[in-house]
Amino acid sequence: MLIGVIRETKPGETRVAATPVTVKQLTGLGYEVVVEAGAGEGSGFTDEAYAGAGATVGTSGQAWGADLVFRVNGPELSEVHRIKEGATLVAPLAPAARGDLLTALAARKIDAFAMDVVPRISRAQSLDILSSQANIAGYRAVIEAAHHFGRFFTGQVTAAGKVPPAKVLVAGAGVAGLAAIGAAASLGAIVRATDPRPEVADQVKSVGGAYLPVDVAVEESADGYARATSEAYDRRAAEIYSEQAAEVDIIITTALIPGRAAPRLITAADVAAMKRGSVIVDMAAAQGGNVEGTVKDEVVVTDNGVTIIGYTDLPARLPAQSSQLYSANLVSLMKLLTPAKDGQVALDLEDTVQRGLTVVHEGEVLWPPPPVQVSAAPAATAKAPERRAEQKAGKKLSPAVRTALVGAGALALFLINAFAPSQITQHFTVLALATVVGFYVIGHVHHALHTPLMSVTNAISGIVVVGSLLQLTGSDNVVLVLAGVATLLASINIFGGFAVTRRMLSMFRKA
Ligand SMILES: NC(=O)c1ccc[n+]([C@@H]2O[C@H](COP(=O)([O-])OP(=O)(O)OC[C@H]3O[C@@H](n4cnc5c(N)ncnc54)[C@H](O)[C@@H]3O)[C@@H](O)[C@H]2O)c1
Repeated sequence: MLIGVIRETKPGETRVAATPVTVKQLTGLGYEVVVEAGAGEGSGFTDEAYAGAGATVGTSGQAWGADLVFRVNGPELSEVHRIKEGATLVAPLAPAARGDLLTALAARKIDAFAMDVVPRISRAQSLDILSSQANIAGYRAVIEAAHHFGRFFTGQVTAAGKVPPAKVLVAGAGVAGLAAIGAAASLGAIVRATDPRPEVADQVKSVGGAYLPVDVAVEESADGYARATSEAYDRRAAEIYSEQAAEVDIIITTALIPGRAAPRLITAADVAAMKRGSVIVDMAAAQGGNVEGTVKDEVVVTDNGVTIIGYTDLPARLPAQSSQLYSANLVSLMKLLTPAKDGQVALDLEDTVQRGLTVVHEGEVLWPPPPVQVSAAPAATAKAPERRAEQKAGKKLSPAVRTALVGAGALALFLINAFAPSQITQHFTVLALATVVGFYVIGHVHHALHTPLMSVTNAISGIVVVGSLLQLTGSDNVVLVLAGVATLLASINIFGGFAVTRRMLSMFRKA
C-alpha cells in the first residue's frame, strides 16, 4: 500500500507526519511512501533527505491520492474529497466535536484512525500523540515564560549582589505539567504544583517540584483521570491560587478534564495581585483557558504589567522534535496494524487499542468506542477498603479449619524438634524466623521502592551462591544436584539484576 504524507496547510503549522527516519521504518514494514514536495520544510527535512530515505517526492494530488493519508492536523470538510474512496486517514480528528467530518468520511467509505483518542493504557503509550506533543508543549511553555520574564530562573550570589530564584507555580501535573515542572526546576527555579489527583505528588517531587495538596477529597474515576472537582475543592484551591499568585513570578496552567471546557483556576483578581513583570502561560487556551483574561493564540499584557501567553501551537514551536515524535507515534501504529510486515493494513477491531482509535470503518461511524478500564486507575477508591474487607471476609477460613491447620502446624513443629537431628532443628528455626521477619518487612515496603529492594535480593543471591558452591564439594548426588540448581538460579538472579539496573540507570544518563 502507498502512504501519502501531506504538506500541512494550517497557518503556523511547522510539523510533518513523517521524517526521513520514519520513512525508512515504514518502507521496512512493506509500505511505499510518497511525500508531498516541501512537506518537511518547516521541520528542517529536505525533499532530498526524504528521497534518500526511499520515499517518492510527489505532488499534492499524489500524496492525497494515496491508500493511507498521514497528517498532523485533521482535514477540513472541504478537503475530504481529495482523499480517494476506500482509503484510510491517519490524523488527530477530535471525533467528539467533529461529527460532521466523521459523517463525510463515512460517506466516502474512508476509514479513519483518530490519533487524539488513543486509549491511555500502557500498551498504547508509544502511539499516544497527546502525550508526546504535550511533553514538548510543557517544555516550550517554560521557554516562552523565561523569554517574556527576561530574568534568571536560578538564584545567584555574586559580588555585585544577590539574585533570588524565580518561583514557578504549575497548575495541573499531567504530561504537560510534569514536563513544565522538570524544565523550570532544571533552570533553577523553585517550582510548586497543584493537581486534584494526590497520587501525582511523588511524580511532581521526582521532577524537582513540590506538590501543594488541596486537602479536600476528590472523587476518583475508573480511568485514572481527574473528574470535575467539587465545590469544596474549588473553594480551597482558589484560596491557594490567590496566595500563590501574590508570591510567584510565573504561573503555567495545564488543567484539563477530558471532554470538558478547561476549568477556570486563576481569576482576574489573582492576576491583578501578581507582581509587575510576572508571566502566565495558559496552556489550556484552546479549551477556553484556565486563566481569566487569556486570549487564544495571543500574548496580552495586563494593566499591572503581567504577561498572559495563550499560544496553542507550542509543539509546533519545536518542529523538528515534535515531528520526530509524532511520526514515531504513527510508525508504532503502523507496526500494530501490519504484523506481517507486508505493507497491508490488518485491522483487528477486537483489540482495545485499534478499536479505540478507529472512528470510521467501512462506511460506518464507530465513535464513541466502548469504555476502556485503564490500568492507571487509582488502586484505592473510596469504596475500595470496604470491598477489600468484603473480599477478605469471603476468603476467611472457618474457625474449625483454622484450628485444624494451627494444630497440624504445631504437631509438625513438635515432630521435627523431637525426632530430627539437632542441625536440622537449628536450620529450621532460622528458616521459620526468616520467613516471618521477611514477610512483615518486605510486605510493608512501599511499591515505589520495589526496584531498590530487588537489588537487595542480589545480595541474598550472592549468599546462596557461596553456600551452594560449598555444597558442591560433597559426595551425595541429591545434594550436588540441589546445589547445582541453586547456583544456577541465584546466578540468573544476580546477572539479571545487574542487567535491569544497568538499563534503568541508562534511562537517567545524559547522552
Ligand atoms: N498550548 C499548546 O500548544 C498545547 C499543546 C499540548 C497540550 N496542551 C494542553 O495542555 C493541557 C494539558 O495536557 P496534558 O496532555 O498534560 O493533559 P493531562 O490529562 O495529562 O493533564 C491534565 C492535568 O490537569 C489536571 N487537572 C484537572 N482539573 C484540574 C484542576 N481543577 N486543577 C488543577 N489540575 C487539574 C488533571 O488531573 C491532569 O493531571 C491541555 O489543556 C492540552 O490541551 C496545549
